[in-house]
Amino acid sequence: MSIRTITDLLASSPAKDWAVGQFNSHNLVMMGAALAAARAERAPVILAVGYQSTKYFSLQALAAAMRVLAEEADVPVAIHLDHARELERVREALDCGFSSVMFDGSALSFEDNVAKTRQVVAMARDAGASVEGEVGVVPQPGAKPGEIGLTDIGQATEFAGLTGVDLLAVSLGSVHGMTEASLAIDQALLEKLGQAIPVPLVLHGASGVTDEAVRQAITKGVRKINVNTALKAAAVRKMREALTARPDTDLLEVMDIGGRAITELAVHKLRVFGASGRA
Ligand code: 13P
Repeated sequence: MSIRTITDLLASSPAKDWAVGQFNSHNLVMMGAALAAARAERAPVILAVGYQSTKYFSLQALAAAMRVLAEEADVPVAIHLDHARELERVREALDCGFSSVMFDGSALSFEDNVAKTRQVVAMARDAGASVEGEVGVVPQPGAKPGEIGLTDIGQATEFAGLTGVDLLAVSLGSVHGMTEASLAIDQALLEKLGQAIPVPLVLHGASGVTDEAVRQAITKGVRKINVNTALKAAAVRKMREALTARPDTDLLEVMDIGGRAITELAVHKLRVFGASGRA
């Protein structure tokens, strides 16, 4: 099946009772595992790579792998660049066929974030890709919950209007990099953002957010949900168990065990997101 933009994935079933899952897929095993979940659930899906992934493979190699696997899949797939902080990286991704890019200007001043995101939108429009921007700060691993910069409603509204982004990542109290889902996000803030912002909202750091909070967030305007850490943690747990039981397990078998753990968790997430059966 052909590769789609995120806007297309959401348009295929416009009701606000589901969200599309973004599964960060840093290598071929993770990509295959995420797609296996999407196929099993008949769900559209987003395969994403970012800085963690390019520590091990070039953006070109990752794009080529995602493209081939997405074309082989019988469900709609978007291939997405997560958290780009430089325009050059966005250019590189668009040149190798990403159907969607996120520009993360959350560490910049509001004015610089607007200016750079506008440039990303112009570049992406030419390439036919969708764009996600960010207002507010969803902290990276190691940050304390007190360092979260929750999204300001006025700024987010202005940002969406000035930039023309297709999706907006907002900070609601989640934190990247959590291995346990224990956080409840600020649903009151989300409710107001959902009413004020005309584009679909994105929840980052979803590994740390409880299923119940995620379900509620979807009813208030979150339409894309990013999961990375929980997938890696699920794979590591199962691989460790296998190696503890049988230390000489073949490498390919260990990787397959990890992949199957990812598929199992991704299936659960797709059901929580209401994404099953939307393909
Ligand atoms: P987690 O670290 O909670 O999985 O978040 C993933 C994410 O938001 C990627 O952009």
